Amino acid sequence: MHVHAYEKLWLALAIVLILLLIGSVTYGAVGPGIAMVADSQDPVDPQALDEDDRFAEPRVEQVGEDEYAAYVEAYQFGFDPDPIVVPEHSTVTFYVTSPDVIHGFQVVGTNANTMVVPGEVAAITVEVTEPQVYGVVCNEYCGSAHHAMEGTFEVVS
Ligand code: CUA
Repeated sequence: MHVHAYEKLWLALAIVLILLLIGSVTYGAVGPGIAMVADSQDPVDPQALDEDDRFAEPRVEQVGEDEYAAYVEAYQFGFDPDPIVVPEHSTVTFYVTSPDVIHGFQVVGTNANTMVVPGEVAAITVEVTEPQVYGVVCNEYCGSAHHAMEGTFEVVS
C-alpha cells in the first residue's frame, strides 16, 4: 500500500497525540500532588455502617492538639452529624461515606468538595480559622429530595 508522505505525517501526529494523552492520564493518576479520592482509605460495607468503627457513630473526634476528624454519613437526604461542629483555629479532616447512593459533600464557599460513593471513604482536610457557620450541600443528583439535602458545618470559639 502506498501512503503519501503527508498522510504519514498526520498519522505520526495522531500517534504522538494519543501517547501524550495516555501519558497525561497516567501522570494524573499517579503523579505528585494528586490524591485519588478514597485511595488511601479502607473501604467500608455500605450495608453495615453501624458495624464500622468509623461510621457506627458519625461524629467529630479530637485526634491531635488542634486536629479533628469528622466522620460523616451522607444519606438520602441529609448529613449526619448535623451540625458538624469544630473549634476555631484547627485542622479538620472530613471522612465521608454513603449508605445508599452517590452523593456530594461540599462546604459552601470553600473548595472542600468531594464525591461520596457507597463503599468508599472520601477524605478531605481543611484548616479553619475564625468562627463561622457554613452550609454543606450535596451536588450529585441523588433522588427526589436532592435539592433539599443540606447540612451545617460550624466553626465555634
Ligand atoms: Cu445527596 Cu444529592
